[in-house]
Parts: sequence; structure tokens; C-alpha cells
Amino acid sequence: MRKRKKRQRIPSARQPSAKPLKQQKDRMAKRVAIIGAGVSGLTAIKCCLDEGLQPTCFERSEDIGGLWRFQEHVTEGHSSIYKSLTTNSSKEMMSFSDFPIPEEYPNYMHHSKMMEYFRMYAKQFDLLRYIHFKARVCHLRKHTDFPITGQWEIVTEVNGKQESAVFDAVLICTGLHVHPYFPLDSFLGFEKFKGKIIHSWTYKNPEKFEDQRILIIGLGNSGVEIAIDLSHITKQIFLSTRTGAWVISRVSDGGYPLDIAHFTRFKNLLYHILPVALVNRWGEKKLNMRFNHENYGVKPQHRFLSKTPVMGDDLPNAIIAGRVLIKPHVKKFTERGVIFEDGSTEENIDVVIFATGYNFSFPFTQDTVLRTQTNKISLYKYVFPPHLEKHTLAVIGLIQPVGAIIPVSELQVRWATRIFKGLNKLPSDNEMMADIVKKIQYNEKRYAASHNNSLVVQYIDYMDELASLLGVKPNLLSLLLTDPKLAWEVYFGPCTPTQFRLTGPGKWEGARNTILTQEERIVKATKTRPLQSCTDTKVTATSSFFIKALTCLGLLTVILSYL
Ligand SMILES: Cc1cc2nc3c(=O)[nH]c(=O)nc-3n(C[C@H](O)[C@H](O)[C@H](O)COP(=O)(O)OP(=O)(O)OC[C@H]3O[C@@H](n4cnc5c(N)ncnc54)[C@H](O)[C@@H]3O)c2cc1C
Ligand SMILES: *[C@@H]1O[C@H](CO)[C@@H](O)[C@H](O)[C@H]1NC(C)=O
Ligand SMILES: *[C@@H]1O[C@H](CO)[C@@H](O)[C@H](O)[C@H]1NC(C)=O
Ligand SMILES: *[C@@H]1O[C@H](CO)[C@@H](O)[C@H](O)[C@H]1NC(C)=O
Repeated sequence: MRKRKKRQRIPSARQPSAKPLKQQKDRMAKRVAIIGAGVSGLTAIKCCLDEGLQPTCFERSEDIGGLWRFQEHVTEGHSSIYKSLTTNSSKEMMSFSDFPIPEEYPNYMHHSKMMEYFRMYAKQFDLLRYIHFKARVCHLRKHTDFPITGQWEIVTEVNGKQESAVFDAVLICTGLHVHPYFPLDSFLGFEKFKGKIIHSWTYKNPEKFEDQRILIIGLGNSGVEIAIDLSHITKQIFLSTRTGAWVISRVSDGGYPLDIAHFTRFKNLLYHILPVALVNRWGEKKLNMRFNHENYGVKPQHRFLSKTPVMGDDLPNAIIAGRVLIKPHVKKFTERGVIFEDGSTEENIDVVIFATGYNFSFPFTQDTVLRTQTNKISLYKYVFPPHLEKHTLAVIGLIQPVGAIIPVSELQVRWATRIFKGLNKLPSDNEMMADIVKKIQYNEKRYAASHNNSLVVQYIDYMDELASLLGVKPNLLSLLLTDPKLAWEVYFGPCTPTQFRLTGPGKWEGARNTILTQEERIVKATKTRPLQSCTDTKVTATSSFFIKALTCLGLLTVILSYL
């Protein structure tokens, strides 16, 4: 703050008109730079405002939304989505914690609906005025007296002109789906191939692929979804996979969204106390009941819990109808086709699509700041680089939760802003490093090797970990005593982000009601034809209540020790 005079002002963006008293307050407030105005950047602005910090957001494009803003054409250095993309986490699980998604919105939303929601959020909390659009951050470096002040110098490029400014803290919110991971070199003979080779990053819509024979490499989320998107119009899709995958579906038990049905505190406890082998058997059996993974050629070597399963609602339909054929890994390319590892060949391939994921990088910082290696980074709780003299830099959303990412980014920012303000403290460098190493080792042991498994976290576990640090984890025991109805929903219902607005800093008045009405919002979106209420469902509901109540009693001792 002492260095105030040195700072150059950044023009454009309207400054909020303020009364003298407020101005004085603002002057005291720490200035926080936010890089990127995607989901993470937006919630970062909101959380800074909540904490009385002064946010300035730099966004290289001309609009908010990041990944979720569909564009007809790809631009180097930007994330990109295709026209039919629908979320793979459901609306109640992926909303901002204090701003529920409208009840009439579908549970799985098209990207255009997501954008509508983000615009509503930005409007509600008046976030746009803090964003400088078309401002690309090209350098982020420690200010000369960083060891004392923890300040950062940020150089932005606006209309080809560079400007620099100094900030008290920085939140990096630049996303991780920007640079296509394109392992062409590892395929023999690819340079001989006469057809087209593209990355899923450039895939937009099926039209121009009509009647073609297409090979998709990679049985991940993108590979599967693009295969389905294309398969109704193409002559044949071949979907090549090295490892196979467990395939899950958006629609789960009773037609509830998958995450709603399974991401509950109750089930999470079961996952932790039951032997891994048992959970694996249960999961695999359930998935094989929908379609036998072996007969459909997708059965992986790894067990159910060893790798994030792939979302593929329509994959079995496409396979059984022959529109998609599952193939092994590609051994080599020929001029017109490919030879697979099992010796089989396919000729007359028109297009090969690499659905091989992304690399992340931070081209605007020196490696010494973040110490990244290819797709590996050491961050305390996936947020703070541990070795800096002052902890005024946080990375947001650099994580692959098995679940929604939006509430994760939000909770990360809520924590980071409290650290910036000195209200929460980080442990010593050594303790942080020990925690990082522990997590890496755990992930290496738990998950099958893949080029980026170091960022995988379990949604509820990670949210609770951050929430405990922040002091916003719901206390089930006291809830049970004071508000049993709410406790029931918090424990047996889906672990929705609003649970982290019930207590502690950032507590929200509307939280209780939002949690108690989540079921209504889920059903409202599908039950668009009014029906007479049916007694049968009530009977099952009561019996399931008693089963749960009994299980609850039986498990109470365990729950108490878990708390
Ligand atoms: C195909 C696909 C489907 C997905 N589906 C889901 C889903 O269903 N549910 C879910 O929760 N998550 C999903 N995700 C994860 C998704 O990444 C997050 O939902 C979310 O978009 C992450 O937001 P972000 O703000 O962190 O990053 P981004 O959305 O990538 O935003 C980053 C922003 O930073 C800007 N930027 C970058 N560099 C600079 C710079 N140097 N200077 C200034 N600005 C810069 C970019 O222009 C961009 O606007 C999906 C991801 C993919 C790829
Ligand atoms: C992505 O990672 C691979 C190796 O894992 C590397 O060869 C490639 O250069 C990286 N690409 C980018 C854009 O960083
Ligand atoms: C990591 O890998 C998964 C599939 O294996 C892919 O969906 C995801 O985009 C990758 N992420 C990064 C950051 O490379
Ligand atoms: C949703 O898709 C993204 C990007 O492909 C992936 O990283 C994430 O794991 C998927 N989530 C689920 C629940 O499948």
C-alpha cells in the first residue's frame, strides 16, 4: 500500500462512483488482480468484493464465460467447445453456492444456458465494471520489493500497447483447457497419412463430416461425446482406445442426475469405510448391468475407482446400432488408413480426430514463480505455490474434481481471499511441501497412470478440506440437534455447494431454504406435465425413509468418529 503512488492507472473500465468515505475505505483495501474472466474469474471478483478487497480483472477476449462461450472458430490460446456441448454435472451440483440456477433450467444444461446463468450472476453482483476486456496479461512478475510487500507487477497488452500496474495480490484464473495435447509423434507413419488429422479442440459441429469414415483417438469425455455427436451423420465411426474405460451415464437411479444420486455425504462415508475392492465390485457390477463392458469392447484394465469414469449416455446405443465401433490403440498410420495394435486394419479413413486432452501452462510467468513441469505443478491444496516469501499469489480452478468445478473454484477463492487479508494463515513451507508430496503419492497409488492424474481430487473430500480451513464446513452434530430436517438433507441429500454457506465467513441467509428446496428444482425441470400425485411413490418414499433411518442409527457411532 505504501507504493500506491508508483502504480500506473489502467484506463478504460468504469470505476465505481464512490462517496469520499467509501473512497477512503477503498484506498485501504488491498488491490487484487484477477487474470481471466471465465467462471473462476467471475466468482473471484465476487468473492473479492465480499471480502472488501478491490478487484481488477483482465480478460484477453471481449467477453466473459471463458470455455463456455461458444465461438464458430477457434483462436490460438483460447479454449473451445463444440456446438452441442451439454454439461456433464447437474445444475444443483455446479451452481455458485449463493446463486441457485433457475428452477426451470434443465438439470444438464446446454452451453448457451450456462452463459445465460453466468450473465445473470455477473449482473446480480455487478461484476462487469471490474473487468478490462481485450486486455491480455503478458507478464506477471514479483515487484522489486516483493519480499517485504508481496506485491506483483502485471504487464497487460491492450490494443498492442503494453501497460504495467502493481497489485497487492493476484488470482490466476486462466483455465486448463487451452493448449491441445496432440501426441502425434508417438504414432508411426502419421506424416504419410493423406486424410485430415485434427484435434477435438477444433471440432465444432457434425455437418461437414457427413458420410465420412472417421477415426477418433481417445475414449475420454471429449472422444465419446464427439463420436456420438458425429455418429448419426457419418458413414462409420471408429473409436480407438488404449486402456478402455468405465462408462457412466447422466441419468441415474430413478432418473436423478448421476451426481445428485451418488455425491452424498452418506455414500461418501460408505466409500471411505468399505474396502476398496468391495466398492470396485459394486460399481463395476452396476455399470455392467446397464451394458456388459466386455461385450461392448470398452472394459478397461483398471478398476472402477482407479480412474475417472467416462460420461457416455449414448455410447452403448451407438455401439449396438453399429454406428460406433470400438478399436484398440493405433499401431501405425498408412497412406489412407490405420493398422491397429491387434493387427486389424481400416482403410479409407477420411478424418482422424485426436481427443487426447489438453496441456496447461502459464506463458505469462517465469517457471520460477509457479515451478511447473509438463502438466505437473506443486500447489498447496491446489491453490498456493508454497515457496514464495509472501503468499499473495493463488491459482484457481487448476484441478480435475470428480464432479463439478465451478463450486470448487468458488471455495478456493473464498479461502485465498481470506489468506490475502491475513484472516487465515498458511502453515510453514515445509508443512505445505509435505502435504503436497503426500497428495501426489496418494494419487499415484490410487489412480491409474495418465499424463495428468496429479490434479484429480474427490469432490466432497476436497470441498470439506478447504471448508475446514475456511471454517465453513457444516457441523453435522450441531445441525442434528438444532435443525434435524436440514441435517437430514445435508447428510443424505446431494452435497450441493450451498452447504458451504450455512455457517462461518460468507454465511448466506438463503442457504437453508435453497438446500431444502433443491429436490423441487431438480424435478421441476423434468416434470413439465402436471400429474395427479400417485400414492405408490409415497409408499416407497416412506419405506426408504425407514431404511435410511435404521441405517442412520446403525451408523451413528461411525459417523461420530468420522466427525
Ligand atoms: C468439454 C468440456 C466440458 C466440461 N464440462 C464441465 C461440466 O459439465 N461441469 C463442470 O463443472 N466443468 C466442466 N468442464 C470444466 C471447465 O473447465 C469449467 O467448468 C470452467 O469452464 C473452468 O473455468 P475457468 O474460469 O477456470 O477457465 P476458462 O473457462 O478456461 O476461462 C479462462 C479465461 O481466462 C482468459 N485468459 C487466459 N489467459 C489469459 C491472459 N494471459 N490474460 C487475460 N486473460 C486470459 C481466457 O480468455 C478465459 O476467458 C468442462 C471442460 C471441458 C473442456
Ligand atoms: C504438451 O505436453 C507434451 C508432452 O507431454 C509436450 O511435448 C508438448 O510440447 C506440450 N504442449 C504444449 C502446448 O505445452
Ligand atoms: C486430463 O485427461 C483427461 C482424460 O484422460 C482429459 O479429459 C482432460 O482434459 C485432461 N486434462 C488436462 C489438463 O490435460
Ligand atoms: C466432465 O467433462 C470434463 C471435460 O471433459 C472432465 O474433465 C470431467 O471429469 C467430466 N466430469 C464428469 C463427472 O464426467
